[in-house]
Amino acid sequence: MKELVLQTKVKVCVYDELDAADKVVVDAAREATSGSYAVYSGFHVGAAVRLANGVIVKGSNQENAAYPSGLCAERTTLFWANSQYPTEPVQVLAIAARTGKGELEVPIPPCGACRQVILETEKRFGNTIRIILYGAKQCYVVEDGIKALLPLSFDADFLE
Ligand code: THU
Repeated sequence: MKELVLQTKVKVCVYDELDAADKVVVDAAREATSGSYAVYSGFHVGAAVRLANGVIVKGSNQENAAYPSGLCAERTTLFWANSQYPTEPVQVLAIAARTGKGELEVPIPPCGACRQVILETEKRFGNTIRIILYGAKQCYVVEDGIKALLPLSFDADFLE
């Protein structure tokens, strides 16, 4: 049997090593945690995107007593950005999280459902999204887009 080896390249750095433009998006994601409604988990997630027109859109997780009715920060942000700016490609996405103890030290990765929505956003606009996962002690930068975090993914190509 043949093997298919799927490789993922993730750059590892600390916040100070990010370039100025990336820091702006990361800082927006960190700030966005303050808008989080996380009364059930206490896990405050912020996300921010930079659009092709330079606009930065922020969002956060919004929970609900009926748990599945809540939504992650990434999807809140992408859906809002795409509905307000339906023709502006998303170029960069940053994610950060905070609990009662402060900012997470490790990078916060998007959940599976959010990865699928990030993939749809890439397909929609025809570009890869630079993804920056912030942690106070370490950051991950995914330069090649969501395929690195969602290999063997299902997208509209299969529907044809
Ligand atoms: N959450 C996000 O907002 N983004 C993720 O990628 C992971 C999880 C939220 C959902 C829920 O409000 C809380 O974090 C705990 O799972």
